[in-house]
Amino acid sequence: MADVKQASAMLKWLRVMLRVLLVIMVFMTGRLLYPRVSNSTLTKRQMDLHNDVQTAQESSVQRSSHSSNVGVSLSVVHDIVLWTSDRLGEVGIYRVPVLTYTPKGNLVAITEGRRKSKSDENPKIFTVKRSTDGGATWSPSQWIVDDGKSRFKRCSYIGTIFTDDTTATIFLMYVYCEFCPTRSLMLINSTDDGVTWGRPRNITDHIGKNYITHPSPGYGIQKKHDPAKGRLIVCGHGFHDGLGIVLLLSDDHGVTWRHGAFVPSVPFLDTPKGYFDPDECQPVELPDGSIHIVVRNQMVYRCNCKMIMRSFDGGETLPRKYMLLDRALVEPRITSGVWYHNGTMFYTGPKTKTKRSKLFIRWSQDYGRTWTPGTEIWGDLAGYSTLTMLPQDDNHIYMLYERGTKEYFDEIAVTKMKISTTTDRSAT
Ligand SMILES: *[C@@H]1O[C@H](CO)[C@@H](O)[C@H](O)[C@H]1NC(C)=O
Ligand SMILES: *[C@@H]1O[C@H](CO)[C@@H](O)[C@H](O)[C@H]1NC(C)=O
Ligand SMILES: *[C@@H]1O[C@H](CO)[C@@H](O)[C@H](O)[C@H]1NC(C)=O
Repeated sequence: MADVKQASAMLKWLRVMLRVLLVIMVFMTGRLLYPRVSNSTLTKRQMDLHNDVQTAQESSVQRSSHSSNVGVSLSVVHDIVLWTSDRLGEVGIYRVPVLTYTPKGNLVAITEGRRKSKSDENPKIFTVKRSTDGGATWSPSQWIVDDGKSRFKRCSYIGTIFTDDTTATIFLMYVYCEFCPTRSLMLINSTDDGVTWGRPRNITDHIGKNYITHPSPGYGIQKKHDPAKGRLIVCGHGFHDGLGIVLLLSDDHGVTWRHGAFVPSVPFLDTPKGYFDPDECQPVELPDGSIHIVVRNQMVYRCNCKMIMRSFDGGETLPRKYMLLDRALVEPRITSGVWYHNGTMFYTGPKTKTKRSKLFIRWSQDYGRTWTPGTEIWGDLAGYSTLTMLPQDDNHIYMLYERGTKEYFDEIAVTKMKISTTTDRSAT
């Protein structure tokens, strides 16, 4: 009897031990297998990308330095300071300006007023100025979005401005609470040429949590040619769980939105220095209906220069085989201005590899294959810049930008330039 009792106790003990062992084995296999699988996937993606970028780069047309100043020359008409970061009063720092033409042929500039400190994560107000005389005079500041005295990180970030020419509406898309566990994508508009602005709409649910991005500083586009004529396109960078860029699309004049092309950084999370991390992006449409995007190369992937991406399907995809690094467009990791008009692509940005200084305007007459050395607009410290032109004026281009002498954002200024075209193509 005692033996039987002992044997059954032994069996029970063995069964318990087996179960414990099984649990430990399942746990260990999961731990060992899971990271191995995801690591090898990442490495493969990384390799593909590396090869594709290299191929695109090698196949790109040879850049020539002899095409300088052919066809176009620029001269400054005037230069006006719109905001000054005097560090006085409630809002003493201004940064990240955006600019657009309006449906009635005027100009609207919006910038971030930063309360308390210059850091990105503090409460802000968005402030608007308009010009109805080709940039000669500007209205007083009007505040349209105000974070009040909210806590650290619970704040708004500019943002992409764009105009729907069909409905004569100006939009500003921006992100709220970018570094909170839940971020929101917001859209505010004006239907009276920028005089008054409505309440912000929360469009987070249109896009879905995983694609909520920071609409990049600069302007969005409305497609003027097929494919997807009339579509509104905003390029954004960064996600709640990783890095990279995404195109946000609307085919009903800004009422509903969805995501199109998505280009993750590699690796997606905590991208190290030297790896592929496309950041702030500025799209332009070319006459063939393709979209050409100039992208900040945040982790200095293979050069201190811009990444270029292209879409041939209205922003649904950005094929890897058309990505390249534009070594002519050196940058100190920054937002740049890009504008295309009548055969000329304009580009603005600091012509340096690391320091935010020496702001140049440059241009290309072969869709960005080769660039002129350009003209220096501000020789001292300078930061973000953006460009626009008025619809009824083919002769002037406007640049809004951060500049200074103590810091690169002492002031936000607008420079108006006259475009002169010459037919003398032998001039160099
Ligand atoms: C925006 O909508 C999302 C999803 O419905 C929500 O989680 C978020 O709190 C909203 N944000 C704001 C600022 O209202
Ligand atoms: C424009 O703003 C108004 C007022 O806030 C809002 O009712 C309308 O839905 C907005 N339109 C779009 C397309 O976002
Ligand atoms: C477009 O550029 C050409 C030179 O390439 C010039 O002759 C023409 O006047 C320009 N058209 C407009 C509308 O600016």
